[in-house]
Amino acid sequence: MKIAVLASNPDIYSNQRLMEAGKERGHEMHFIAIKNCYMDITARKPEIHYRGSEILKKFDAVIPRIRPSMTFYAMAVLRQFEMQGAYLLNGPISIGRAQDKLRTMQLLCSKNIDIPRTGFANSPLDTKDVIETVGGAPVVIKLLEGTQGKGVVLAETAKAAESVINAFKSLRANILVQEYIKESAGVDLRCFVIGDKVVAAMERHAAKGEFRANIHLGGTGHKVKITPAERKIAVAAAKVVGLKVCGVDMIRSNSGPKVLEVNSSPGLEGVEAATNKNIAGLMIEHVEK
Ligand SMILES: Nc1ncnc2c1ncn2[C@@H]1O[C@H](COP(=O)(O)OP(=O)(O)O)[C@@H](O)[C@H]1O
Ligand SMILES: [Mg+2]
Repeated sequence: MKIAVLASNPDIYSNQRLMEAGKERGHEMHFIAIKNCYMDITARKPEIHYRGSEILKKFDAVIPRIRPSMTFYAMAVLRQFEMQGAYLLNGPISIGRAQDKLRTMQLLCSKNIDIPRTGFANSPLDTKDVIETVGGAPVVIKLLEGTQGKGVVLAETAKAAESVINAFKSLRANILVQEYIKESAGVDLRCFVIGDKVVAAMERHAAKGEFRANIHLGGTGHKVKITPAERKIAVAAAKVVGLKVCGVDMIRSNSGPKVLEVNSSPGLEGVEAATNKNIAGLMIEHVEK
């Protein structure tokens, strides 16, 4: 098959592994940089041009690996590939849903998937009420489109929470306010879903003095056995967002597992190292099926 990895940086681990895994399984692999694509959307046959090269010929499949800042443009490029008849490992609509944490939370709740108590408001007039709605301080405040832990803040007191929320609002940033799950103590669960299976899971431990367990913030991944309930929740979360490949982040709370978010381009480095599994190979295998 002729497969494109549609991403930004060919040198990062995940993209290199996908290219490698595809070649190992006998496919013709192309790295396509999103920013080099431009499109003739009016052509009778939808065209994708590649800067400095010719018009791209039809791909059998596209594996999107989209960084958040590129989502809008990448979604347009993906639609173009789709119109040409390529199979997309994740589609543009579901990628858009996953990028928006609030949208994801609403979708999860629609299927009765447990999440930490979460609130959202537009006006600073409602800030106090929203903090109380989720159970009062401490609360977690999140940028709706943050990733790698960068847009996630813990406010220990109601006063701090109010200041942070209103400061974000004055910058016109969209945020959600969430109950802080204390007992997680800097540990979360990353379930890697392909199709309707959790193919790997790791527990991530935050760096010292940090409550966010993201690998990018110095968190460490450890192989872990998950329960059948956690497995079921991860698969259901992927399904309601509509992603065929994703990383579902969860917290093991005293009242059971709670889903934090669903990542449409989950990193491969941490999870392959922690579990010793060929996740890139499994992704290619899924494309073949
Ligand atoms: N409500 C919460 N209670 C406790 N810890 C949380 C909560 N929300 C997030 N965290 C911690 O912060 C990390 C990042 O949050 P997450 O929602 O996954 O955003 P990101 O997209 O930045 O990874 C999580 O992996 C978890 O360790
Ligand atoms: Mg996360």
